[in-house]
Amino acid sequence: MTILEHALFQALSDGVLIMDRNRIIQEINPAATRMTGWKTGQKVPYCLFCQHREVVHGEERCLLMGKNAPSYFESEMPTLHGENIPVSFSTTYLPTEDETIEHTVLMLRDISQKKQEEEMRMAKLLARQTIEAQEAERKRLAQELHDGIGQSLYSISMALGLLRQTVPESDAQLFTIASSTLADTMKEVKQLSVALRPPALDILGLKAALVSLIRQVEQHFSLKITICYNLPSSLRIPSSIELHIYRIVQEALSNAAKHAKSPVVFISLCSLSDHSGFHIIIRDKGKGFDPIHVHRHSTGLGLKHLAERTELLEGSMHIDSAPGCGTVLRFVIPFASMEETGSEKN
Ligand SMILES: Nc1ncnc2c1ncn2[C@@H]1O[C@H](COP(=O)(O)OP(=O)(O)OP(=O)(O)O)[C@@H](O)[C@H]1O
Ligand SMILES: [Mg+2]
Repeated sequence: MTILEHALFQALSDGVLIMDRNRIIQEINPAATRMTGWKTGQKVPYCLFCQHREVVHGEERCLLMGKNAPSYFESEMPTLHGENIPVSFSTTYLPTEDETIEHTVLMLRDISQKKQEEEMRMAKLLARQTIEAQEAERKRLAQELHDGIGQSLYSISMALGLLRQTVPESDAQLFTIASSTLADTMKEVKQLSVALRPPALDILGLKAALVSLIRQVEQHFSLKITICYNLPSSLRIPSSIELHIYRIVQEALSNAAKHAKSPVVFISLCSLSDHSGFHIIIRDKGKGFDPIHVHRHSTGLGLKHLAERTELLEGSMHIDSAPGCGTVLRFVIPFASMEETGSEKN
């Protein structure tokens, strides 16, 4: 090597080593030593892939030393300190004058970060697919309830109406109770199917759907809910994203009603002052809770789903609560997520 080549070899941030046919290291640069702990004169161990791959009799176990060696592949390499690190390999050969291969140049790159990013990407994808599958299932259940059970109950109520004339006076009270139970059941089925798939969202849009949700929760739980809705009228929110926002408010309201025991709840959906996005705030004056304790010990899914939905919208979620002090949930959703996560999430 010339002085310049040697300086370059030493300065490279990728690991480079030269090994002979017996995988004994002839030269190794500092980056490769930092990565693996190996030194000149040591034998390069088999990577995880080669350790476990099936080889026929007489075949070279090290893929890079065999015929048809790939010029690039990824695996995990044991270091001198006994750990395995994910690395990418690229190779080139230094042939002798008679064209036989004497030395192999191995270039190593630590791909731990790339792997971590890939794992995070997969985790996000999984969360997104789980939520989408849930929404699809809710939609199916809503249709089944409405078109199946709902229609059957309607037919029964029509038949009961016709039978009314033929019921003797002695059974009139029983008949009235049965009719009223049926009417309540029909109402419950309707409410359930609305909760599973809010029709107002598809037809009237987010604001009207939220107002309708608020009215239902107010009636059901004797709460007073105030909403301040101040999103730009020019803002086009894709329907899948509207559904996420609706579900966020729905779960927060359900928690306020079920757990907080607060008589009042305030909701605000407003643009941020820098116009980069908007916030959703749900505030109750109820009994509050310890978010860290709940995060560690609760088996509930609501708050976890809120976090996952927020992540899908590339936003942030903050819980401000303590026992006896009420609860404020604050979500910040960037407008940028409307474009990026738009139609492909539908
Ligand atoms: N607004 C609130 N006020 C008081 N406690 C709350 C509030 N929101 C959540 N909590 C507490 O946090 C816990 C976890 O809430 P989370 O929504 O994750 O689950 P859950 O409501 O118990 O069940 P799920 O949502 O799965 O039906 C609740 O059980 C409750 O103790
Ligand atoms: Mg909940």
